[in-house]
Amino acid sequence: MLEVHFSDDLHKWALAPLGTPPNGQKSRGKIICNCYDVSENEIIETCEIGADLQTLQAKLKCGTKYGTCVPELKRLVKTHRTNS
Ligand code: FES
Repeated sequence: MLEVHFSDDLHKWALAPLGTPPNGQKSRGKIICNCYDVSENEIIETCEIGADLQTLQAKLKCGTKYGTCVPELKRLVKTHRTNS
């Protein structure tokens, strides 16, 4: 009989259709715009290269449907935007 032991780290990937555990993947962060599945990290990275709200909307489409995320987008722009 074959016995297989998984370490705690591998246990969570035991049923994943992968040959090796995933690594090196960067977390997207929480989703800010649910309409377009845009994450906080994507928004922050775009703000850090100088994007304002209109640029975020044009580039990532966030805040262009129902707009419930717009107050959070404005907060992220204010906090993370760098002038380029
Ligand atoms: S949650 Fe961003 S436009 Fe709807």
